[in-house]
Amino acid sequence: MERKRVFSGSRPSGRLHLGNYLGAVENWVKMQHEYDCVFAIVDHHAITTPFDPRELQTNTRDMLVDLLAVGLDPSECTLVIQSELPQHTELAWILGSITPIGWLQRVPTFKEKSEMHPDNVNLGLLSYPVLQAADILLYKAEVVPVGEDQLPHVELAREIVRRFNHRFGDTFPEPEAEVPRHTARIMSLTEPEKKMSKSLGPDSYISIGDDPETVKEKVMKAVTDTGPTSGEMSPGVANLFTLLREFGDEKQHREFLDEYEEGIIRYVDLKEATAAAIIDTLQPVRKRRQKLLQSPQRLREIMETGHERASTIACTTLREVKERTGLGPGREF
Ligand code: TYM
Repeated sequence: MERKRVFSGSRPSGRLHLGNYLGAVENWVKMQHEYDCVFAIVDHHAITTPFDPRELQTNTRDMLVDLLAVGLDPSECTLVIQSELPQHTELAWILGSITPIGWLQRVPTFKEKSEMHPDNVNLGLLSYPVLQAADILLYKAEVVPVGEDQLPHVELAREIVRRFNHRFGDTFPEPEAEVPRHTARIMSLTEPEKKMSKSLGPDSYISIGDDPETVKEKVMKAVTDTGPTSGEMSPGVANLFTLLREFGDEKQHREFLDEYEEGIIRYVDLKEATAAAIIDTLQPVRKRRQKLLQSPQRLREIMETGHERASTIACTTLREVKERTGLGPGREF
């Protein structure tokens, strides 16, 4: 039986962090064995917010290294760099021509990013979700493993599919987002009411490649509260519990929860245990990263193999789209 196609992507606007890992990439690693997966480093998306060309090059390589180090296996999935396959942007243009601007202006990330960078509200930022839809549709993906923040984008991709199929005939499946049950939204360590993100400063997130001292320092500085109250657990404390559950063991997590419920927890102990659990998990990842960084030839080969396979799929889809829309092939001259 044919395996379902999966697509997802990550922006190389910095290093892979624990939010990316728990919200999406951990699922990618699991899914690569069951599905036909294509994963992309989406550098065209990364240039919609301020960037430095040299850093973008390094970040793209580092993103590849991080993805491999956490367990993506190039013999089990297809890895691509978005800008190396022009079919992504070509399809985005066609989809952009059937997407009403009103749909795009309503997207929450457009509003957020425009406020964050008021002097750089560019066209790419507005059409960002169209390019994202093109990424998914180019491979006719049915499943899109992402964190919760990406749901509006996947919903928009579904709307674009409906519009395209209605106008030009059944071409694309409607993709479905797959969001993890417990880790759909990992919070920032410094501003725990916001999601963990590179844009909130280095202390707000933990990178996959952070060394043990840095991890410890960041976790110890994490914002909590002044002690348990009778109300709901504060977002900073809840976030530490999530990290401990994901990286540590269930028994330890249970013991701290009991202490929290009894009102006798010491946050310094919770932080120490959480930092230790993260450091333990990241140790082998760091080793694999270091090894991969020493073999640029291997990285090049991995990307070449990925591109070859991805471009076969991408060219087939684009040919079909162009035939259906009266562009290029099928002309009578
Ligand atoms: P990006 O690069 O911001 O993030 C990559 C993935 O990590 C998830 N994520 C989080 N999950 C939980 N908690 C967090 N704090 C957190 N921060 C990030 C994101 O939800 C995402 O799944 N627009 C996308 C990239 C993209 C894409 C695509 C995704 C481009 N084309 C096609 C899927 C399909 C983005 O900026 O992700």
